[in-house]
Amino acid sequence: MNQRIRLLPAVETDPALAKELREWFEEEFGPADRWGAPDYYAILSLEEQLAGRLAILDREVSVGGAIVKVGGIGGVATKPQFRHRGVASAMLSRAAEFMKRDLGVEFGLLLCRHEVSPVYAKLGWIGVPGSTTFSRSGTTATYPHDTMILALAEKAWPSGPIDMLGLPW
Ligand SMILES: CC(C)(COP(=O)(O)OP(=O)(O)OC[C@H]1O[C@@H](n2cnc3c(N)ncnc32)[C@H](O)[C@@H]1OP(=O)(O)O)[C@@H](O)C(=O)NCCC(=O)NCCS
Repeated sequence: MNQRIRLLPAVETDPALAKELREWFEEEFGPADRWGAPDYYAILSLEEQLAGRLAILDREVSVGGAIVKVGGIGGVATKPQFRHRGVASAMLSRAAEFMKRDLGVEFGLLLCRHEVSPVYAKLGWIGVPGSTTFSRSGTTATYPHDTMILALAEKAWPSGPIDMLGLPW
């Protein structure tokens, strides 16, 4: 099957495609403005049909008080008819390569419900202990599920609570 992954800067995304991606995000995850704005999209098409999407964010977080540059992954979704065929895995692998080589970050960081964590664990993402907080509408909230990181360089994740320094993704 003809599979194609495109990595697009969000600001250069064709407005019709950007609208489709935003609506798809909102169907899966609720209002988009409650989440950090994507800097890039990875989009997977199968036979020219949009099958999967994810967002990449170029962000800094604070870990135990130290600033760490991360590649954030958010809004990972595969259309129901294309699930369990490696679509999310292929996009995540491409995104990891991009974050390492093009963004030059040492870690990927994402939030997910525990039931979905195997998708990421299979690709080397690991859960980190401790709290993860973010700000939304002027208040600080603690993410109630899993925080996972992907080591992209030979460096250990620092210890301590994570502050996402703004909206979550
Ligand atoms: C989660 C989701 C993105 C997975 O997409 P996918 O393209 O089917 O994933 P893959 O085919 O690459 O799956 C790889 C492996 O991850 C695991 N996996 C896939 N979907 C899973 C799920 N929903 N729960 C737990 N593990 C899952 C399986 O081990 C799978 O391998 P297998 O199919 O050989 O068993 C898709 O189910 C989806 O869009 N769900 C709704 C949105 C969502 O919850 N996104 C995650 C936000 S954190």
